[in-house]
Amino acid sequence: MKPLIKGALIAMLPLVLSCASCKSKSVSHPAKSLSSAYSTYFDIGAAVTAGEWGFDSLTHYPASLLAEFSSLTAENCMKPDALQKTKGSFTWSFGQRLVDYAKENNKRLRGHTLVWHNQTPDWMAKNASSKEEARENMKVHIETILKKWDEKDIYCWDVVNEAINDGAAEVYRNDSPWFKVYGGPEFIRDAFIFARSANPKVKLLYNDYNVVNQPKRNHIVTMIKELKLIEDGLIDGVGIQAHWNLDWPSISTIDQTIKTFAAMGLTVHITELDIKTKENQQGLLEKRYREIFEVFRANADHIESVTFWGVADDHTWLTDFTKYVNFPFLFDVEGKPKSSYFIVRDFAQNHEGK
Ligand code: XIL
Repeated sequence: MKPLIKGALIAMLPLVLSCASCKSKSVSHPAKSLSSAYSTYFDIGAAVTAGEWGFDSLTHYPASLLAEFSSLTAENCMKPDALQKTKGSFTWSFGQRLVDYAKENNKRLRGHTLVWHNQTPDWMAKNASSKEEARENMKVHIETILKKWDEKDIYCWDVVNEAINDGAAEVYRNDSPWFKVYGGPEFIRDAFIFARSANPKVKLLYNDYNVVNQPKRNHIVTMIKELKLIEDGLIDGVGIQAHWNLDWPSISTIDQTIKTFAAMGLTVHITELDIKTKENQQGLLEKRYREIFEVFRANADHIESVTFWGVADDHTWLTDFTKYVNFPFLFDVEGKPKSSYFIVRDFAQNHEGK
């Protein structure tokens, strides 16, 4: 971060006001920040690293930039391979750093993720000799983490990530090592049962991408109904990843998707928001963020948090994923607010709540 920009950001940071009208908690935010503008609607979050893989968002970005966010998610350091690469040996350091940072800086922390087909060591599911062994591995993994960090450290977890298939042919993603070793989707219910019995207070979510698409959305609804039949309180919410494009999905589809889950009594988290965008498309990005945040605000009663999958354009997984350089966020490669930032933050001259 250039000193000039850092200075400008600090100058933008006015006095810290206490937010008396915050929806779910009393948290202090800079008076004119994204999270303060949205405090009566939902948390504004960012995925961050804590030093793993040689990148540390918490020192790389100035405090004034991180102060824009009221919630954080671990981009990688709480995934199965980060926490328990070797059976029985847990690596807490990066995750603990994030837990401590969130506490010290008055931010809510989301947990990501307990059970997934990616970034999971082979011993856990792929090389397990039986369903019973895999089940025990999952149980120990989940229970150990939820005992280490309780709901005051991490208030919610993406318990299962991406277990539903994209197309119509299959309901479940059958290439997951968990699906394979179990011989079916019962690993999903096991994960929620283990998490719920380890901590009745932590919020438990199912998280996925392309949730807006049919038939995937219907398949997720069916899966959730089955979880609720086992025990009504087994699942609290759905994470809509929101790795979206400039022209997909439609706003009405986003609206319908949020309302579908709300009608099931679930809380919605927008968990991994980024918009695939090239450098010369920033005008389109403005328009896109304007309409996306309008529909989020219209559904604020159902939305707990909106998390960007990164802080600023200098660090985004999309560049690897799409194989071209992406500029998907509200802050540019130097951490300066982009025009889209002001569109999202200053959505109304005098926004005093819903
Ligand atoms: C991504 C991280 O951002 C990358 O750093 C990593 O190389 C791969 O995983 N869906 C998820 C996230 O649930 O965990 C993924 O994060 C992005 C897609």
